Amino acid sequence: MRVLGIESSCDETGVALYDSADGSLVHALHSQVDLHRAYGGVVPELASRDHVRRLLPLVQTVLERADQPRSAIDAIAVTAGPGLAGALLVGCGFAASLGLALHRPVLAVHHLEGHLLSPLLADPAPAFPFVCLLVSGGHTQLLHVQAPGRYRLLGDTLDDAAGEAFDKTAQMLGLGYPGGPAVSQLALQGTAGALRLPRPMIDSGTLDMSFSGLKTAVLTAVRRLDVGATDAARADIARAFVDAVVDVLTAKSLQALARTGLSQLVVAGGVGANVQLRASLQGAIGARGGKVFYPPAELCTDNGAMIAYAGFVRCTQLAPAPAEPLRVRPRWDLCNLQQA
Ligand code: KG4
Ligand code: ZN
Repeated sequence: MRVLGIESSCDETGVALYDSADGSLVHALHSQVDLHRAYGGVVPELASRDHVRRLLPLVQTVLERADQPRSAIDAIAVTAGPGLAGALLVGCGFAASLGLALHRPVLAVHHLEGHLLSPLLADPAPAFPFVCLLVSGGHTQLLHVQAPGRYRLLGDTLDDAAGEAFDKTAQMLGLGYPGGPAVSQLALQGTAGALRLPRPMIDSGTLDMSFSGLKTAVLTAVRRLDVGATDAARADIARAFVDAVVDVLTAKSLQALARTGLSQLVVAGGVGANVQLRASLQGAIGARGGKVFYPPAELCTDNGAMIAYAGFVRCTQLAPAPAEPLRVRPRWDLCNLQQA
């Protein structure tokens, strides 16, 4: 079965063709980073307009690279939510039209389910059940993943997502957008312990998290910098911030594994690309005999491949969802996928 995946929920247009017969995957991506950089963040209207421009050429590129005609597509999977309403509408409108033209079914995919299942595309892949640490720009969640479609929320951020905190910290340190990788790089030059920032809720006894207080602590530290502060002082703030986020995410992941009695942690979403987080999780979970899994490197951030794969899993391994028209869901609960 060949599934065409379409992702347009935020600032990346992604298209992919997944072929279940041989597991092959061809994907193409257009990042809007250059478009939004001048504004310091994603401008929804510009994002939607750019998705319109990019989608068809990306589909053509993917089909050419896969050396397949349009008729080889058996089903179309598209991100229906959560995300920016206008951006989702572009992808869903496009997918619905393509489905009509090719007489193929169109499957609505939850963006976070795409992230969550993407480590199954890596080798080695985890086996169900596992705990998933989902750390993207908008979400920081711990989930008990029993089987495809069976997700139980263990813990959530009560305010900002970890990725959002990375992006805001980058802005405060003058590193621009997108911020995560830049903060991570700068932190590598900082001195451990030169500055200590709070680790919110680390001992709260629940698996919930909070990152807005940490963001405020960064702001306070930045305001204390002298006008002529050296790059080293900025690097120390970045280091203190990264150490705090990584400590919280590592501690909560360990607690989630202990509570569920599981030994496999799957890390998905953009922040999962962070080298400091990877080293910390590897050390802590490896020391307890557990294993950490990630998606293939280029599939950590948003892409069409994870949507194609999640679409394939949905239509082959789950009971068919009640037939209903394709609907955009800017807010959509991952743990109640069949609900409105
Ligand atoms: O999953 P993703 O691509 O998009 C969403 O679904 O939100 O995640 C984007 C987030 C951004 O906040 C970005 O700053 C963060 O992932 N990110 C990173 C790194 N690469 C991306 N954060 C920390 N370190 C990184 N290397
Ligand atoms: Zn994402």
